Amino acid sequence: MNVKHAETSVAATLTEQVLERLETTPDPRVKYIMQSLVAHLHDFVRKVNLSEEEWAQGIDFLTRTGQMCNERRQEFILLSDTLGISMLVDAINHQRGGAATENTVFGPFHVEGSPQLPYGADIRFGVEGELTFVHGKVLSADGQPVAHAQMEVWQVRPDRLYDVQDAQAPHMQLRATFHTREDGSYAFWTVKPVSYPIPADGPVGDMLNACGRHPWRPAHIHFRIRADGYQTLVTHLFAAGDAWLQSDAVFGVKDSLIVAFNPGTAIHPDTHETAALEVEYDFVLAPQMS
Ligand code: BEZ
Ligand code: FE
Repeated sequence: MNVKHAETSVAATLTEQVLERLETTPDPRVKYIMQSLVAHLHDFVRKVNLSEEEWAQGIDFLTRTGQMCNERRQEFILLSDTLGISMLVDAINHQRGGAATENTVFGPFHVEGSPQLPYGADIRFGVEGELTFVHGKVLSADGQPVAHAQMEVWQVRPDRLYDVQDAQAPHMQLRATFHTREDGSYAFWTVKPVSYPIPADGPVGDMLNACGRHPWRPAHIHFRIRADGYQTLVTHLFAAGDAWLQSDAVFGVKDSLIVAFNPGTAIHPDTHETAALEVEYDFVLAPQMS
């Protein structure tokens, strides 16, 4: 057999050999996932006719992605987000339909244990920007108020950084935990969110560059809402009119989550300033599946 023939026959049988080797996997779900992964990866390598140099580049890319991860930075989640995997996993796992508010990406900037604040509190903690009053209700799918729901909110500062990206920042800024009142209502004071680039100084940034893609996310406020008997809702409210709504770097925008920041009329209870902007939005929780 000449060398060319030997290579061809290895390539032809290798996938079967690896799949066969995985037959001993005791857990059926792990076996299914591993065999499917190998089959797809081998198909991919064949389809693009991967060169040795490209293979080495891929290994280097994944190595750098791992090395970039620490307790403040999760480059693998960023990779998943920018390839649309995070939104796909979310879509498969949260097919709510009906009136329920849609999910979107969690993102890497949530912090556990944000300050517990009362209805109508101010989350600016020294941050300057366009004063904005956000309010509404948390409801069930049949329109009933959900009392005592836990609502966590977090957002980027007007300098386009989250507090956790700034080592000099006070402990927490533009993040808090609220609980809805008996009538399901919530309210807080903040600044108008701004668009910002996702961290692009690592391998994911290199990938975006190589693909001629930008790193921008349209302005948004993050929410995580949890209540007994309901599915946890992880979502954002996006600012209508933002230039990046059509090309979010992480594919997180859904039309139902785009809201108007209208001129405000509410008066701040402590500073007596009038809100520059006001947002009203009711969140609808889907019932827990039994
Ligand atoms: C965010 O909105 O905080 C975010 C989401 C995905 C990737 C990077 C940032
Ligand atoms: Fe964000």
